[in-house]
Amino acid sequence: FATSTKVNRNSRFDSLKTNDMEHFKSIVGAKGVIVDKDELVAANTDWMHKYQGHSQILLRPQTTQQVSEIITYCNSRNLAVVPQGGNTGLVGGSVPVFDEVIVNLGAMNKIIEFDEVSGILVCEAGCILENLDNFIGGKGFTMPLDLGAKGSCQIGGNVSTNAGGLRLLRYGSLHGNVLGLEVVLADGEVVNMLGTLVKDNTGYDMKQLFIGSEGTLGVVTKVSLLVPAKLGSVNTAFFACEDYTSCQNVLKEAKRQLGEILSAFEFIDRPALDMALTHLPGTRDPLPQSGKNFYLLIETTGSNETHDKEKLDAFLESTMEKGFVADGVVAQDSTQAASFWQIREGISEALGKAGAVYKYDFSLSPEHFYKIVEDLRDRLGSDAVVVGYGHLGDGNVHLNVSAREYKDELLEKVEPYVFEWVAKHKGSVSAEHGLGLMKPHALHYSKSAEAIALMERFKALLDPKGILNPYKVLPGTSKTVSTP
Ligand code: FAD
Ligand code: MLT
Ligand code: ZN
Repeated sequence: FATSTKVNRNSRFDSLKTNDMEHFKSIVGAKGVIVDKDELVAANTDWMHKYQGHSQILLRPQTTQQVSEIITYCNSRNLAVVPQGGNTGLVGGSVPVFDEVIVNLGAMNKIIEFDEVSGILVCEAGCILENLDNFIGGKGFTMPLDLGAKGSCQIGGNVSTNAGGLRLLRYGSLHGNVLGLEVVLADGEVVNMLGTLVKDNTGYDMKQLFIGSEGTLGVVTKVSLLVPAKLGSVNTAFFACEDYTSCQNVLKEAKRQLGEILSAFEFIDRPALDMALTHLPGTRDPLPQSGKNFYLLIETTGSNETHDKEKLDAFLESTMEKGFVADGVVAQDSTQAASFWQIREGISEALGKAGAVYKYDFSLSPEHFYKIVEDLRDRLGSDAVVVGYGHLGDGNVHLNVSAREYKDELLEKVEPYVFEWVAKHKGSVSAEHGLGLMKPHALHYSKSAEAIALMERFKALLDPKGILNPYKVLPGTSKTVSTP
């Protein structure tokens, strides 16, 4: 295990006592208090097996009232808490750093209501994204977000990380799609902001503060969301390009020619494709003859199959004529489309299988989107494999460094180099994964000192004792940071 942020336990927090266990049992019952070693190891370990905490207890509340009682008690006892959803986060935010109490929302998985006219869904925070998609899918709707972790991540986790994913290009971010939240604050107070209105300008829109706050300001217990209609015609294509400039040209053309039906515009470089092909059983190169270094996965979603398919075919033809696309294939059925997506969505899993991964998630202008990958590749030489993929349509590059094992010497070559690079080119050090434990020390590369100070004031106001997800997000915790 390795972390890029080294922190010391904050002595302000108390440790768990036998009495605390008993009290938690009185709130959630014996079944809701997990002390089983194997379950605790899993809950203490993040998806990448990069961060590991040492919590002795995991609580599974079933109601908002139980969450409120747990948090009230922890606040009074100075026990630190980690809110946890599906534990698929990629920045070490969802696992304890030391002995924090883990509060997992998985047992709060009820769908509360769904309006088939407005497309407004209200549910508990522990609902798994894919389950929600299946439920509303049966009623002709779809979730406005989709990501590789959909089978495990929870809507409360998605909201708390403001997850982006593969459809943001089409449906926008959760800051727009979430209509309301119910949140438990650090003192246990339940704040009902669970509106179901598309328009509501009655003062400050406070739910926005909790979207993307990564469990540091409150525990999200219920979510209300606006979901789009599920359209019948989905077409998927896989293109190969000669160089990165051609990928940019294809994006420009896609906005013009496919604008109203474009639903994904994803980028994969050769090393990322090779990772997937090598480590994911059953995958095969969609364009085996091309041997190019740059690939695009493009999806359209519309309501007229003939029209949409014609458009995508014509798009492929015209971008090939212009020399932007070297080779391309439009999926002939949903199985072939799924095989393209398996590659794109499986890159993170493939990287995990290949060894240690240093994962970065930057927003950059189209011009700089791939330059950082090339520059880092030059810098590291044969020390590691540098791969680039991501949501090109949103300007969100996933820069990953794959190595045999985690080593401080390698990390020192990567950081702060990549953060300085991103700051110099006016990007963001976190486009969609958040800051978690991995990046509080890098926040200043993307936010002004005044903005960070204001974040700290909000934190102090809502969580004066700092019990909610300590050591994460805010560099204020750097008071406890020690250099190794
Ligand atoms: P967790 O990992 O459990 O928690 C994440 C953070 O949210 C933690 O800080 C935690 O404390 C907090 N949290 C969780 N639930 C709550 C709650 N109810 N109340 C308050 N705080 C809470 N992310 C993207 O943005 N786009 C992608 O395309 C994407 N693809 C992914 C693909 C794979 C294969 C994997 C493994 C991850 C991917 N992720 C992606 C990252 C991750 O899936 C998302 O961040 C997801 O939204 C996390 O949801 P979760 O339920 O697993 O939350
Ligand atoms: C993705 O787009 O695949 C996810 O954000 C996960 C990752 O970056 O590996
Ligand atoms: Zn992503």
